Amino acid sequence: MERARGETGGRNGPRNGGDLDPSRGAEVLAGRLGTSPELLIVLGSGLSSLADALEDSVSLGFDEVPGFPEAGVAGHPGRYVAGRLEGRRVLIQQGRFHYYEGHGDAIVTAPTRMAAALGIDTVIHTNASGGIRGDLTPGTLLLVEDHLNLQGRTPLEGAVRSGEARFPDMSCPYDPELARIAEAAASHLGISLPRGCYGGVLGPNFETPAEVRMLKVLGAHVVGMSTVPEVIVARALGLRVLALSVVVNPASGLTPNPLSHEEVLEAGQMASGALLRLIREIVRRIPGVPQSG
Ligand code: HPA
Repeated sequence: MERARGETGGRNGPRNGGDLDPSRGAEVLAGRLGTSPELLIVLGSGLSSLADALEDSVSLGFDEVPGFPEAGVAGHPGRYVAGRLEGRRVLIQQGRFHYYEGHGDAIVTAPTRMAAALGIDTVIHTNASGGIRGDLTPGTLLLVEDHLNLQGRTPLEGAVRSGEARFPDMSCPYDPELARIAEAAASHLGISLPRGCYGGVLGPNFETPAEVRMLKVLGAHVVGMSTVPEVIVARALGLRVLALSVVVNPASGLTPNPLSHEEVLEAGQMASGALLRLIREIVRRIPGVPQSG
């Protein structure tokens, strides 16, 4: 049966999130995790292994956060893990909500709003993407320096939420200082980290070759189906954002092979070792006061 966009379903169904209160979610999260994280790290498809590196970790399933649906995409386990990484208190979000699942703005961006309610001011996003620019072959890590919102909607539509700007500046969506830190960390580790523009599409189908040619003309260097709404809300809230994309396939039409989600997961897993090392090094270098105990 077809379901209208934003219609409320069961826990596993698409939701518009009208009954979701990010402050309440943040309270539950803070109570259960017993820590006040400094950084949020959002892990995309096939990139979940970073959570295993946390010390003194505590986890909480998305199903325990009031109003959250379960994350419904294979490779996205759907849980929070809080703990220490390189002496810093971090919150890892394994899995995210996508528009293509039928979720509304409130659900897709609830984790960002909860992070702000928890006092977090820095978000590191990771995602998987298809490479459009010639040098962005599978396994490459990309520093996202800008994006194109081609999802046909904005998460800021409607009434202005508390603490958010009505007309947020988007001239610098990805924090230049964090980008410099990421590049220094990558260079220290001998990891190549080219910069590029992320074309954010709605999905869930992969693109046609003609759409990929269009994206290239528009200035997208990679294409993916996530991150853009969360970054828009993060900027509306004044959070600093760093985004790293793992190129997991050549974009449609650039390879004779059909694309599959299994390929995305496999390539993500293969690149996850380098991504893990890079994120650790970045976290180590982000200025802040390391805390003990
Ligand atoms: N297109 C859109 N999203 C993606 C792709 C792609 O080729 N690869 C991974 N996520």
